[in-house]
Amino acid sequence: MAGLWVKKTIEQLHSEAAESEHGLRRALGPLSLVSFGIGAIVGAGIFVLSGDAAQYTGPALVLSVIVCAIGCAFAGLCYAEFASMIPVAGSAYTYAYCTVGELLAWIIGWDLILEYAAGAGTVSIGWSGYFVSFLQRTLHIPFPAALSRGPWETVMGADGTAVQGVFNLPGAFIALLITTLLIIGIKESASFNNLVVLVKVSVVLMFIGIGAMYLNPSNWHPFLPENMGKFGQFGWSGVLHGAGIIFFAFIGFDAVSTAAQEARNPQRDMPIGILGSLAICTLLYIAVVVVLTGVMNYTRLNVPDPLAVAIDSTSARSWFSPVVRLGAILGTTAVILVMLLGQTRVFYSMANDGLLPKVFALIHPRFRTPYIGTALTGGCVALAAGLIPRPIMEEMTSIGTLLAFVIVSGSVVAMRRLRPDVSRPFRTPWVWLVGPLGMIVCLLQMVGLPIHTWMRLLVWLVIGLVIYFTYGWTHSRLRKGSGQAPAMPTPVGRSRP
Ligand code: ALA
Repeated sequence: MAGLWVKKTIEQLHSEAAESEHGLRRALGPLSLVSFGIGAIVGAGIFVLSGDAAQYTGPALVLSVIVCAIGCAFAGLCYAEFASMIPVAGSAYTYAYCTVGELLAWIIGWDLILEYAAGAGTVSIGWSGYFVSFLQRTLHIPFPAALSRGPWETVMGADGTAVQGVFNLPGAFIALLITTLLIIGIKESASFNNLVVLVKVSVVLMFIGIGAMYLNPSNWHPFLPENMGKFGQFGWSGVLHGAGIIFFAFIGFDAVSTAAQEARNPQRDMPIGILGSLAICTLLYIAVVVVLTGVMNYTRLNVPDPLAVAIDSTSARSWFSPVVRLGAILGTTAVILVMLLGQTRVFYSMANDGLLPKVFALIHPRFRTPYIGTALTGGCVALAAGLIPRPIMEEMTSIGTLLAFVIVSGSVVAMRRLRPDVSRPFRTPWVWLVGPLGMIVCLLQMVGLPIHTWMRLLVWLVIGLVIYFTYGWTHSRLRKGSGQAPAMPTPVGRSRP
C-alpha cells in the first residue's frame, strides 16, 4: 500500500522541465502573465452568474465578492510559492504529486476535471446566453427557445409562454468550435489574449463608469435582506451561498501556474502573474457588483445576461448594450479556450505519468497537439453544455476548484516541513497562518454550496477512485519503478512509450 503515497521529487520535476526546454518557448513576461490571468478570470462569472448570486444575497453581493477575494488571496499566495518553486506545467496535480503522493495527486487531477472541463462547459452555456440575447435583442434575429436550453430547463418563448428546452445548441457549438481550433493548433497566443483582455477590461470599466451615472440608491435597501428561515436564502448564510456562486468569477488565476514552462523568468514572474491578475480582477468585481445592484433591483437580475439587462434599463442602452453583449461573447470565448487548453494539459501530464490511457498524450504528427485527448474532452464538454443545466455545472466547477485550493493551501505548509531545503524564490508570507486560513475560507465557501453538490462531488470522487484502482494503480510509471516520469514535449506522431 506504500505505493499509494509514492512521490515525485522536486529534482525530477526540474529535470522534466529542463528536458522540455527545446519544445516550449519561454515567451511570457510579467505583463503577459498578468494578462493571461485576467483573460482566464473575467468571463461568465461576472457577466452571467452575478445575477444568480444576487438572488441569495441581495445588494450584499459585494460582501460575497470580498469573502471570495480573501479566500482566493490566501490560495493565490500558496499557488505563487509552488509556481515559483516548481515552475512546470500540471499545476495542482503536479504539486500534489511531490508533496502528498500519487493517490492524492490522482484525486486532485480527477478533481481538476471539474475545474477545467466543467468550467469550460459552464462558460459555454454563459456564452450561449449572451449570444442568443445578442441575436435577438441587437440583431433582431429570432432563435428557437427550445434550442437555447437543455432538456431539464424551461425558457420563455417569443410569445411569452414557457417552452421546454431540448438542447443548448449555441453552447455545444462554441465548445466544438474551440476544440477544433485547439486541435489544429491555434492556441491562445499572448498577443491574441492581450487583445481580448484589453477589450473585456475596457467593457467592464465602461460598465462601471456608465452604470455609475444611473444609480438608484433605493435599489441598495435593504442592503442585507433578512434570512428567510432557510440556510443560504439571504442574511449571512445567503452571503456565504452567494460567495459559493460568485467564486466561479475568480477561477482562473491558478491557470497562470499552468503557463510556468512558457514564462521567461518563472521564479520571479509567476507570483506577479497570479497575484497581480487576482488583485486587478478583485477591484473590478467589487465595482461591478456595487454598480449592478445599484442600477437595477437585484430581483430583476436573474437572467443569463444581467449586465446587459441592467444597461437596457438606462438611456445608454441603444449603443452600450450591444457593446456589453459583444464584450461578454468575446471575453467568455477566451475563457473557454484557456479552460479547455488547461484540461487537455492536465490529462496530458496524467497520461504521461501512466495514470490515464496513452491516447491522452498522443500527439498529432502535423498539428503537434494532443488531438485525441482534445477531441474527447471537447466532445464531452459540448455534450454537457448542450444537456446539463448551468447551475449544476457551475456549482460542480466551484466545489471542485475550491477542493483544489484547499489541497494546495495545505500542501504548501506540508512542503515547508518536508523539504525546507528547496529554494523558494517566492515565499508565502506567514505561511503557518495563510495556508490554514486559505483552507478554512475555501472550506467555508464549500459549505455554502448545496448538499446535492456535495453528494455529486462525492460520487465524482468515488468514480475517480474506481478508475485509479482499476487503471492507474497498475499503469503508474513512477510506481512501476521507472522513477523518472517523461517530460514534454512528446515525440511527434506517437505517445510516450
Ligand atoms: N472565472 C472564469 C469565468 O468567470 C471561469 O468565466
